[in-house]
Amino acid sequence: MTGAGEIVAGEPRPIAGGQPRPAAGEPRPVVLDCDPGHDDALAILLALARPELRVLAVTTVAGNAPLERTTRNALRVLTFLGRSDVPVAAGAERPLLRAPWVPVEFHGESGLDGADLPEPAVPALGEDAIELTARVVREAAGLVTLVPTGPLTNIALFLRAHPRLAARIAAISLMGGSLGEGNTTAAAEFNLWADPEAAAIVFEAGIPILMSGLDVTHQALMRSADITRLEAAGGRTGRVFAGLLRFFAVHHRQRYGWDGPPIHDAVAVARLVEPGLVTSRRLRVDVETTGELTRGRTVADPEGLSGRPPNADVGVAIDRQRFVDLLVEAVAAFG
Ligand code: BDR
Ligand code: CA
Repeated sequence: MTGAGEIVAGEPRPIAGGQPRPAAGEPRPVVLDCDPGHDDALAILLALARPELRVLAVTTVAGNAPLERTTRNALRVLTFLGRSDVPVAAGAERPLLRAPWVPVEFHGESGLDGADLPEPAVPALGEDAIELTARVVREAAGLVTLVPTGPLTNIALFLRAHPRLAARIAAISLMGGSLGEGNTTAAAEFNLWADPEAAAIVFEAGIPILMSGLDVTHQALMRSADITRLEAAGGRTGRVFAGLLRFFAVHHRQRYGWDGPPIHDAVAVARLVEPGLVTSRRLRVDVETTGELTRGRTVADPEGLSGRPPNADVGVAIDRQRFVDLLVEAVAAFG
């Protein structure tokens, strides 16, 4: 057993029972909970491309755009990829307590500006995201991994509505938070800031968490040359995703001077595919919900001062070149 604050690579150990890893050779069943979102779209693409994962469902939440748009965007991405067979259900229209706020400068008015995607071939299911998640978790042969890449509203509602199903969750691999700088306020990353009360419920759930926050995702850049390579690798998929990436690059070039955008959300998927890809620190992490300046801050406790057990493997470094290769390979697989 590693201690609090220790640097580890790969997967979490069970915290409250359960077994994080599926049986050897079996694909890991996952539910993607997202708010597409350019980097969410790449996370979906990567998850669908990889034999190590089996996508049981895609659920949507309000975040990068209002719920109606994030749901439509998820359906359009799946239609474009020829995977309308994957069930989609819409979830929360707004955070648990806070007013919704949309970061239009990141993702544009549609939530997914920059590419011409088809209209959805099928609608979202009639059941909502919480019901669909509960159903697939209940019916799955093994433990299911949740992969939230938007505000954590749906995951918190699921855990509150179906507490007994928590034992059937292997891990939660989430994009969100930061040990260092924020991107929405000085203290907080967008997904955690958007719904801090939901995030607090998730971090306190006793389920192993793989946290991919800005500490690692700001290293996970697709540079201009990588985007050109991705475009060349993948026919129509390469062209459409290069268009999305070039739109997403604009804000990051203006704001940070970077030669390419961080593909935040795909990190939460990629570290399930290749456990050695991300180096992490095993830490106790709690979410600030009351501070005026620190709403949504992920507060880490490397010395274990609170006496509470570690609950998260917090990503701190990534093999960027291998990450880019995974995304290019995923685009090429769709062609
Ligand atoms: C997160 O916020 C959204 O804009 C992205 O899709 C990502 O999930 C990064 O802070
Ligand atoms: Ca997102």
